[in-house]
Amino acid sequence: MAIKSMLLVALLVVVLAASQAEAQLLSGLLGSLLNIGGTVFCSANGNAITNATTPTPPFANALVQLSCGGNVMSTTLTNGAGVFNIVLNPLQFLLSNLLSGCNIVVASPLSSCNSSLSSTGILQAPLQILGTVVRGLFNVVNLAPAAFQLIGI
Ligand SMILES: *[C@@H]1O[C@H](CO)[C@@H](O)[C@H](O)[C@H]1NC(C)=O
Ligand SMILES: *[C@@H]1O[C@H](CO)[C@@H](O)[C@H](O)[C@H]1NC(C)=O
Repeated sequence: MAIKSMLLVALLVVVLAASQAEAQLLSGLLGSLLNIGGTVFCSANGNAITNATTPTPPFANALVQLSCGGNVMSTTLTNGAGVFNIVLNPLQFLLSNLLSGCNIVVASPLSSCNSSLSSTGILQAPLQILGTVVRGLFNVVNLAPAAFQLIGI
């Protein structure tokens, strides 16, 4: 009991006195939060059309899945601006596995945002790292889909 409270006090002192570098060290021990965010566009390949005269419309209310080896691990919907966000439990995912074995899949057909677009196939993109930021005691690794491709047409 006494030892436990001493350890707790010691930990608190470490946390309160932690500099940025120490915070990073601690957050390394606690693991990094994995945050996946991106935008899906209502175009033939789900990406923004570069140098278009008008901005590419967003794909709102699209069903977005994190798919790893064919298993859906997490799902969400895009908002009105086509933006989605998925935060993962760092204890359940390894960054290296996410990058090598997982994809962002848009399960809603493109025809649901524009009836002239394909009603078959799904948009799929591998993940890429945008960067790491420190938020309090945690490292947050920000990931985003690389370019989408329409597959399985
Ligand atoms: C888009 O426009 C920029 C500047 O006008 C130009 O440098 C670039 O090559 C264009 N990109 C494409 C894909 O046409
Ligand atoms: C729907 O898609 C077609 C074909 O890509 C495009 O020409 C048209 O501008 C799109 N409509 C809207 C409202 O974005």
